[in-house]
Amino acid sequence: MHDYARILQEILVGYALPVNGYHGVVHWARVLENGLRVAASNGGDAEVVQLFALFHDARRVNDERDDGHGQRGGDLARTWRGSLVHLDDARFALLYDACERHTDGHTTGDPTVMACWDADRLDLGRVDIVPTPELLCTETARELLPWAHARATTNHVPQAVLASWGLTPQLTPLG
Ligand SMILES: [Fe+2]
Ligand SMILES: [Fe+2]
Repeated sequence: MHDYARILQEILVGYALPVNGYHGVVHWARVLENGLRVAASNGGDAEVVQLFALFHDARRVNDERDDGHGQRGGDLARTWRGSLVHLDDARFALLYDACERHTDGHTTGDPTVMACWDADRLDLGRVDIVPTPELLCTETARELLPWAHARATTNHVPQAVLASWGLTPQLTPLG
């Protein structure tokens, strides 16, 4: 129902950072794979997780602390409601909340929102941070941590996700 390739294409039109950077598309792809695993276990909404992966860092303007970037990502998704983003109000509220507060350190909330936050935190190894199990939201994420952290630290490239988003495999892994 959502055209993720088209959404990604439109996001990248206004994306301020290197596509292959620390917060770029390879991170988004791992966030998706992490989030789908958590959602499959905790009943989270997989479609919202998909959109979170694409939007949560879509409007970063730097690769360090970037106040408000989650809200800007949510705002972008809101701008595209009815054209590229098709969620009813309740599901859109989950997406927006997940984006807006994803860097605030919360560990409780709606299952979908927790799946989104855990998905992002499980990928902290790419910037040399070992996720603290107690700071994850779900038991599933704690179980996934060794797997996800290994992928984060080696900059695993989820080629199938990138292909499904319309990207070709010549993306350069991070150095
Ligand atoms: Fe972020
Ligand atoms: Fe992120």
